[in-house]
Amino acid sequence: VERTLSIIKPDATKRNLTGKINAKFEDAGLRIVAQKRIQLTPEQAGVFYAVHKERPFYGELCEFMASGPVVVQVLEGEGAVAKNREVMGATNPADAAAGTIRAEFAESVGENSVHGSDAAETAAVEIAYFFSGLELVG
Ligand code: GTP
Ligand code: MG
Repeated sequence: VERTLSIIKPDATKRNLTGKINAKFEDAGLRIVAQKRIQLTPEQAGVFYAVHKERPFYGELCEFMASGPVVVQVLEGEGAVAKNREVMGATNPADAAAGTIRAEFAESVGENSVHGSDAAETAAVEIAYFFSGLELVG
């Protein structure tokens, strides 16, 4: 069964939306097989988002991801990567389909409430960044 790495971002944890977002995942058939609430440093966020380091918003993104607690989690299910991205909606909440997490909760293209891996290979790397094998309970 496929797994993907999800992050509930600081804008969402600040507004106490963890449970509402998790309900969206579970309602879509995704199982939360690992989860922890942590505070990232800008440097740790920078390593995680290193793929974006040439983008103009990289500094802002790293500061934002370190601005409050995040909930990192592993979601499991058939086609988990694609299913999670469907439930998240488009990066910019203005473009996100009705009923998606970003349409309902995101504040802007930067502060957009959730992260989800973009491919199975990326998911494996991202999961290993936050979790040891012992922490994944399927
Ligand atoms: P993630 O699941 O977080 O990776 O989102 P994504 O795959 O939908 O978007 P992408 O990987 O292209 O961008 C990563 C993150 O950078 C986004 O989720 C946003 O938080 C942030 N980001 C993307 N574009 C912009 C932008 O134009 N301005 C700002 N401030 N942040 C942006
Ligand atoms: Mg991405």
